[in-house]
Amino acid sequence: MDTSQYIIRTEQELEKCCDEFFYADSEVARAARYSLLNAGKRTRAILIYLTAQMCGQDWQDYLRLAAGVEMIHCYSLIHDDLPCMDDDDYRRGKPSCHKVFGEATALLAGDALAGCGLQVIINSSFSDSEKVKAVMAATAAMGPKGMIYGQELDLRYENRPADKQTLNNIHRHKTGRMISLCGLLGSIRSDITDIQAEKLKMFFDNIGLVFQIVDDILDVEGDARLLGKPIGSDEDKNKSTFVSLYGLEQSKEIARQLTLRAENAVREAFGDKADQLVEYTTYLLNRKK
Ligand code: IPE
Ligand code: IPE
Ligand code: MG
Ligand code: MG
Ligand code: MG
Repeated sequence: MDTSQYIIRTEQELEKCCDEFFYADSEVARAARYSLLNAGKRTRAILIYLTAQMCGQDWQDYLRLAAGVEMIHCYSLIHDDLPCMDDDDYRRGKPSCHKVFGEATALLAGDALAGCGLQVIINSSFSDSEKVKAVMAATAAMGPKGMIYGQELDLRYENRPADKQTLNNIHRHKTGRMISLCGLLGSIRSDITDIQAEKLKMFFDNIGLVFQIVDDILDVEGDARLLGKPIGSDEDKNKSTFVSLYGLEQSKEIARQLTLRAENAVREAFGDKADQLVEYTTYLLNRKK
C-alpha cells in the first residue's frame, strides 16, 4: 500500500495548524515544530484515514482530526524522552527536544501540543455534536485513565517486574488508548451498527497492544538508525516489557496472534471493505521502524 499521499497531506495540515495556532516568534513554538514536523510515521493519522474510508467516508475530511491526534501523540513523545521519564537523547532521527531546546522549553512545547491538539480537533469542520464526541474521546484516551495512567505505571514498574496482567494494562493504557482513539475518530461521522462498532473496537484494542509489543521488540533487535531512536533504552532503565517478560520469540508470537484476532474481527464486520486496514495492520506487525 502506498501511504505517501496520506503522509504528505498530514504534514501540510500540521504545518498549517502550527501557522494558525503558534506565534512565529516563540521558542516554545520552534521546539514544538522541531519535534512535530516532517517526522514520524504518522501511523495514527493513517489509521484514522483508513477507518474513515472503510466506513465509506472521504479521508480528506479527517485531516484536521488526524493533525490533532498527531500533535497530542507528539506531546507524549517529548515528555516521554525527558530525563525525569525515559531520559532518551534521540527521537525521530535527531536529538530529542530537550537536548536542543532545554528541559523547560521542551516541557512547555509538550504542553502546547497537548492543548493545541484538542484545539485543532475543535477547529475541524465536523458538527458540534461530533466535535464534542471527538474531544471527549481524545481527552479520555490521553488522560489519567488513558495514556497518562499507562505512563504512570510504566515508571512504577521500572526496576520491578510486572506480571502478565499488569504488563497488558500498562501497554493498553500508554499506547493502546491513543491507537484505539483513531478507530473512534475515523468512524465518528458514520452510522455503523453496534456490532460493527464493537468489532472495530476489538480490532483497535488488539492492534494498539501489538503496536507497543513491536515497539518493545524493536528496542531489542531494531536498528537505531532506521528507528530514529536509541535501542536498548528499555533494558537500561530496567523497564517491564513484553521482551523482558516473555522473551523475543514468544513476544513475536503473541503479536501475530493478536493481529490475527484483530483482522478477523474487522473482516467479520466490514468484509472486503477492511482490505486496506488489514494490509496496513500486516505492515505494522512487520515494521522495522
Ligand atoms: C512511539 O510511537 C511511541 C509509542 C507509543 C510506541 P511511534 O512509533 O508511532 O512514533 P512516531 O510517531 O512514528 O515517531
Ligand atoms: C511510549 O512508550 C509511550 C508513550 C509515549 C505514551 P516507549 O517509551 O516505549 O516509547 P519509545 O520507545 O520511547 O518511543
Ligand atoms: Mg516510555
Ligand atoms: Mg520512551
Ligand atoms: Mg519503546
